[in-house]
Amino acid sequence: MPERPVLYVLNGPNLNLLGMREPDIYGRQTLADVQAVCEAAADGATMVFHQTNHEGELIDQVHEAREKASALIINAAGYTHTSVALLDALKTLTIPIVEVHLSNPAARERFRHRSYVSPVAAGVVSGFGSFSYELAVKAALRLVQERAGHADRSVQDDKKRL
Ligand code: DQA
Repeated sequence: MPERPVLYVLNGPNLNLLGMREPDIYGRQTLADVQAVCEAAADGATMVFHQTNHEGELIDQVHEAREKASALIINAAGYTHTSVALLDALKTLTIPIVEVHLSNPAARERFRHRSYVSPVAAGVVSGFGSFSYELAVKAALRLVQERAGHADRSVQDDKKRL
């Protein structure tokens, strides 16, 4: 694990149109604004921020996070509700996963109530616009710190046993 945590923030289809797309639901902030919110919350962590409209590319980015990230924050957008392939990719990760949404899918149409990300997420933050991302970054950092603390303690326990 690198000294500085590496946070991957992955964004799925249509999120490139934030600010113009259904502003009543998703607000007026652009994806660049959301990225700035994440960077401000990152507290010195390295941030890798991607958006794609393509399912396979999103899966490739999950695989990249598997190799390089300390934690993954993902807004899979429409693929949240449809993609078994994305779930399968996420299942290969051992790092913490935080699911994030701008809107609250549970309060919207029924087809948005199912998430293929939630079963493997440590937690879900939804409904707060870009503030959801800020909270998700903070939660991911906390999870990374907790894991580092556990790892340190188990090294100390191992040393005591020697
Ligand atoms: C979304 C919610 C999804 O249901 C929708 O398909 C999106 C955006 C959100 O951030 O609120 O594209 O993930």
